[in-house]
Amino acid sequence: MTVYQATASAPVNIACIKYWGKRDTKLILPTNSSLSVTLDQDHLRSTTTSRADASFSKDRLWLNGKEEEIKEGGRMSTCIREMKRLRKEEVEDKNPNEPKLSTFNVHICSHNNFPTAAGLASSASGFAALVSSLANLYALPVSASDLSLIARQGSGSACRSLFGGFVAWQMGSNPTGVDSLAVQVAEQSHWPDIHALICVVSDDKKGTSSTSGMQRTVETSALLQHRIKEVVPRRMEEISKAIMERDFDAFARVTMADSNQFHAVALDTEPPIFYMNDVSRAIIGLIVEYNRVGVEEGRGYRAAYTYDAGPNAVIYAPKENVKEIVELVVSYFPQREGSFKDNFGLFGGGQVVG
Ligand code: PMV
Repeated sequence: MTVYQATASAPVNIACIKYWGKRDTKLILPTNSSLSVTLDQDHLRSTTTSRADASFSKDRLWLNGKEEEIKEGGRMSTCIREMKRLRKEEVEDKNPNEPKLSTFNVHICSHNNFPTAAGLASSASGFAALVSSLANLYALPVSASDLSLIARQGSGSACRSLFGGFVAWQMGSNPTGVDSLAVQVAEQSHWPDIHALICVVSDDKKGTSSTSGMQRTVETSALLQHRIKEVVPRRMEEISKAIMERDFDAFARVTMADSNQFHAVALDTEPPIFYMNDVSRAIIGLIVEYNRVGVEEGRGYRAAYTYDAGPNAVIYAPKENVKEIVELVVSYFPQREGSFKDNFGLFGGGQVVG
């Protein structure tokens, strides 16, 4: 008996230019383009195994060992349905000898090796791993950008986790979403010197989900309209140029400015949303001071902070500065012994890769 099963894993990505706002909530089409760095740390990944079998009575999902309902018409079921459609169109219709896996139900088992929904982009790696494992199971002859169209419908930022290195999600303009996809701007090997330091301020589940937060922001924030029209298009060009020229000073300035504006837009929402806490803000203060000294010494900016929809900091820095930054952070924010939760922990100075 043939077993139809495949496993894939995908890393988290952390945006330098933030995605915040949907123009189509069903297809997950964004109000602005975004750009991220895919992190390749062994302990920040989702791993997903999918199995198709004619005997399965329905599609089922286990997340971190616990069965989750696959809601009819929800994002998970959309991704599974779209992957089955691709299997049929790209494989079975073209080659009638292939087994009709698109007609079988699937069992999916996914595991994150880091806190889920703590502002560490677990939905990004999760949906990217899901789509990749189904693409392997179905032996789909399609590109990562093609798969990004489907991962996007699970969680917007997931489309960027299908590539390593520096990745743009082009917002596109077609109402069907065919041109709202991820492309690689540069391989990690183009600029291997950049490292990411994840500072876990809290691994609690976040208060306002990105889905409801974005919706409220789109409905109520005037600042968002300015951001999507006047600010992000220019920043996408600036950061792409900084990456191509390996210009860390420019990369850092744009990254921090965009993190600040994303949190300003959250604050401009009615009622306001606060994702950062006092520790997050203190880390900003530390990096600002570190960069001020760097500029004074003629070395330019040496680190960049960025925050997603949660209090945890991601600090990008050239490798040569990482040790110094870790020492600074640990001396200002000592970790309490034996406790990880509600504490300040570091996910090592792992390299950013592709
Ligand atoms: O893909 P979502 O719905 O989890 O939204 C992610 C939003 C941010 O992480 C705040 C920004 C981004 O571009 O990743």
